[in-house]
Amino acid sequence: MSTPNTREEWSSRWGFIVVATGAAAGLGNIWKFPYIVGENGGGAFMLVYLAAILLVALPILAAELLLGRLGNLNVIDGLRRIAVARGYPAAWSRLGWIGLLSCFVVLSFYSVVGGWTLAYFVGALSGGLVVEGGAPGPLYFADLFDSIVSSPARSVAWHTAFIALTAVVVGSGVARGIERLCRWLMPLLFLLLLLLVVYAAATMPEFSAALRFLFAPDISKLSWEGALTAVGHAFFTLSVGVGAMLTFGSYLPTGVRLGAAAFTVAGLDTLVAILAGLAIFPIVFAYGMQPGSGPGLVFVTLPVAFAAMPGGPFVAALFFALLAVAAFTSAPSMLEPMVEYVRERSKGSRTQATLKVVLAVWLFGLAQALSFGDWASVTLLGKNLFELSDFLVSNILLPVGGLLIATFVGWALLPADTAGSLGIRQPLLHKAWLLSLRVVAPLALVLLLAGGLA
Ligand code: TRP
Repeated sequence: MSTPNTREEWSSRWGFIVVATGAAAGLGNIWKFPYIVGENGGGAFMLVYLAAILLVALPILAAELLLGRLGNLNVIDGLRRIAVARGYPAAWSRLGWIGLLSCFVVLSFYSVVGGWTLAYFVGALSGGLVVEGGAPGPLYFADLFDSIVSSPARSVAWHTAFIALTAVVVGSGVARGIERLCRWLMPLLFLLLLLLVVYAAATMPEFSAALRFLFAPDISKLSWEGALTAVGHAFFTLSVGVGAMLTFGSYLPTGVRLGAAAFTVAGLDTLVAILAGLAIFPIVFAYGMQPGSGPGLVFVTLPVAFAAMPGGPFVAALFFALLAVAAFTSAPSMLEPMVEYVRERSKGSRTQATLKVVLAVWLFGLAQALSFGDWASVTLLGKNLFELSDFLVSNILLPVGGLLIATFVGWALLPADTAGSLGIRQPLLHKAWLLSLRVVAPLALVLLLAGGLA
């Protein structure tokens, strides 16, 4: 049993890497990445995305880990401790509130989509993706998607299952819950992904077209909005800007070099996104589908191909298992910052804290789930609640959070303070990191904010 104010730790450096990669590699990589690459013309988008990971999101990931280590408390009290100890206003801790708000909003809709992945996985296992007694057509799958997302009872039940499972994991503790989950599921995630890529490479001549689509940039296909989408997604995919990685960093054993750990996590996350593209696009091309078919790409478009291909139900089961695993290893990273805050403040048990937070997330998630069905007509600025949440998080909360983190670590902390804790040995790398936090990342984030508000 953990007692209040005793802070837990990951079991090792590798334990942290597995957990942080689990948090980073999620629906963003397998559901969202392929469709935004598709919508924005492929290779050119990839270039901007890779640059944004390296120059913007990765430096901020390292900065968050650093803040976690220096604060060694929940995100709000940790930031206050760091600021006050260096003579800055305690109001810096409000940055933590932006983070917790983001975690709350993201988790509420993540849990709804996570619920769909469970529904599809179970559906694929039971052969539900193959239409009985007739040729499977796009309509059937569009109907299936519609019935899942717009039937409140189903959507709510799967959302409940997803958040309840996440609560069990987080309630079991940092090392015993979250780390144990990821140690089991992350190898499975890589295995499933490799199986799907090998299947595509071995059976589909369109594999080379997919390679070309992803890696041969055609700059003329890239719009300004596309470039900003790439920057926003680099943030989302590394789970930075909300204090989630900060909280995870606060459980790091001393002696782990933060810079190297951040680099490894960013590399593995990018690998997952690229492999997901290599698994999905050959299928898309082989069955003559549109790569830019939007959020429905994996839920509506792909199932059509699954139904038509040899061994389709099996491939579908593998694919939706992959999607569910990816979602399930990411969700704890959004719950944990809130639970840790409530636990340390209330001095209650982890279980109590988890129950309180999950109840609130579940309720807000209900509204998210209903925003596809009965409440679809309730809109603000032309967006329903789900679209509004996605916009609020990706275009406002994450960039603002990232901007404040970059400014705080880049300008307010002393380089001597940061160099040692980061464990970066080459002075030049440390300089490059500072330059990114001070100039490059803030610039990119201001553009992202301006683009979102325009
Ligand atoms: N990175 C995850 C994904 O790609 C999503 C995620 C997990 C996240 N934790 C987060 C996004 C915290 C923003 C903030 O699916």
